Amino acid sequence: MTPRVLLPWSDLTVPDGLDTAVYDGTGTPPDLDGVEFYVLPYDSGPEPPKLIAKMPSLKAVQSLSAGVDNLLPLIPDGVTLTNGRGLHDLSVAEHTLALILAAQRDLPRWFRQQRTGSWDREHTRSLADERVLLVGYGSIGKAIERYLEAGEADVVRVASTAREGVHGIDELPELLPGASIVVLILPDTPATRGLISAPELAALEDGALVVNVGRGTAIDTAALTKEVADGRLRAALDVVDPEPLPADHPLWQLPGAIITPHVAGGSDSFHPRAKRLVEQQLARFARGEPLVNVVR
Ligand SMILES: NC(=O)c1ccc[n+]([C@@H]2O[C@H](COP(=O)([O-])OP(=O)(O)OC[C@H]3O[C@@H](n4cnc5c(N)ncnc54)[C@H](OP(=O)(O)O)[C@@H]3O)[C@@H](O)[C@H]2O)c1
Repeated sequence: MTPRVLLPWSDLTVPDGLDTAVYDGTGTPPDLDGVEFYVLPYDSGPEPPKLIAKMPSLKAVQSLSAGVDNLLPLIPDGVTLTNGRGLHDLSVAEHTLALILAAQRDLPRWFRQQRTGSWDREHTRSLADERVLLVGYGSIGKAIERYLEAGEADVVRVASTAREGVHGIDELPELLPGASIVVLILPDTPATRGLISAPELAALEDGALVVNVGRGTAIDTAALTKEVADGRLRAALDVVDPEPLPADHPLWQLPGAIITPHVAGGSDSFHPRAKRLVEQQLARFARGEPLVNVVR
């Protein structure tokens, strides 16, 4: 039987020798018999991953997300899981910079004033010369750093293990008090859950900005809500715990909080980059070569 690949789009260049089926995550899935390579539709909810269990010939699953923690339990032994590492780097980095600048330059205030035609002016904070603690120095963290450096911020890098130019996470308690902006770009793992809780928030200077673009679970939401409600800290969040943030959650209404609904990775730059990655992976698969971005 010709190996089948199940793809989210029909506009891909597929090597000879592979039979193609398309499933974008909506409607009834096609016949799954003989599917060896499954590219999960991006950000389309819990249904597409459930199909994995119905593919007895499966050899590889390609996710288009960077964070695949939720998929790992669904991947059978012997099946390769690859992720979308790199696809979202610039999109998330752009959004991170937008959140930081919106908070530092008080954009929500000027947008409110615009509604009433008010020309009330005042100096704001800025990014230049601010010390930014960048917690997570992987693929996206490095892209964020490039934007921060263009803004002439003083970037302090933190990752799980120390190496030249990068602090280890065990140094966090000493690093927090010196930072006016903390950016979290971390995966959801047992070690990152609750990493920033009440004691870490208390260690930050008054008025510091907490930015989270990785996974919401890295921050204790209740502790952050309290600090922002007290007016002591500010927050700019693309990810929160829980998601979606309930409509009546107090964080929504706090003047010191900017919230976007987990949209940092989704922009027009995604599709062409994702298409290139999938086409390269299909070519490797067809030639029997190892895939890239292997998670497991
Ligand atoms: N908001 C969005 O729309 C969006 C979009 C895409 C991705 N994301 C999230 O962003 C995350 C990061 O993506 P990425 O591509 O940059 O991943 P990555 O390349 O794997 O980098 C992860 C970074 O986190 C660090 N890290 C892991 N555990 C840690 C810990 N316990 N303490 C301190 N640092 C730790 C790693 O440290 P080492 O360098 O020492 O290994 C590494 O620097 C993803 O997992 C995903 O959850 C969000």
